[in-house]
Amino acid sequence: MKVITTIKEMQSTIKLEKQKLKSIGFVPTMGYLHEGHRALMARARKENDVVVASVFVNPLQFGPTEDLNSYPRDFERDKKAAEESGVDFLFHPSVEEMYPHEPSVVVKVKDRTDVLCGKSRPGHFDGVATILTKLFHIVLPDKVYFGLKDAQQVAVVDGLVNDFHFPLEIVPVNTVRETDGLAKSSRNIFLDPTERLAAPILYQSLQEAKKLIEAGERNPEAIIAQMKEIIEGKTNAAIDYIEIYSYPELKSLREISGKIIIALAVRFKKARLIDNIVFTIS
Ligand code: PAF
Repeated sequence: MKVITTIKEMQSTIKLEKQKLKSIGFVPTMGYLHEGHRALMARARKENDVVVASVFVNPLQFGPTEDLNSYPRDFERDKKAAEESGVDFLFHPSVEEMYPHEPSVVVKVKDRTDVLCGKSRPGHFDGVATILTKLFHIVLPDKVYFGLKDAQQVAVVDGLVNDFHFPLEIVPVNTVRETDGLAKSSRNIFLDPTERLAAPILYQSLQEAKKLIEAGERNPEAIIAQMKEIIEGKTNAAIDYIEIYSYPELKSLREISGKIIIALAVRFKKARLIDNIVFTIS
């Protein structure tokens, strides 16, 4: 695996690979790689001739109250994880390399951001869309891999790729889970033992919601009420939101139909956990 730190070298490397007619799979990350990232890289490895991953903590997607400086970083560990996952080129530019001056153009996301976690993070997805636009132009990937754990990000990137005609395919990869169903997250370590025991109820409530829909329930409010009851019955966690939307449009539904997302965010004492399921009603 080769580590590349400049845009120029990344572009010349890609140019050579394209001349050899190699397909390029790309996994953009902010580093501190975990099993979810490894699953994206493993999938990219299977489906492409060349795998590029990036590690770049993007200042543009952090709000003024979110601490960019304390975002966890461990490049040596990331390098090992990427290499073990079969990455060929690891792009690791500095902030100065990616943003040599205040950006003169940024991407403004107008849709799919005022719900779920986007509601409480104004500007976050503008930063994500801007860095991905830059990275897509540098890496020129055929396929780009994103975890469905952040299904709103996948929906926003879907809008970006369609509106800006990027000639690439987005590959959403299922959330990696513990054996008891809890979605893997670096935040799970902040759960105390009682909370950790109770936390799988989040995924169970999503599964119960799916069962209700499959049994014919079509009223989002009724399903959300059931989920609240299930979660509040088993934990002291505070529910931030439980929402149901069309997917990937993220539009409210009076009656459930088509492809949907059921998503939740719940606050335990020291950890805010999110989870979701996306499925199509036949
Ligand atoms: O999901 C992330 O880690 C980031 O939002 C991404 C896609 C790498 C853009 O900085």
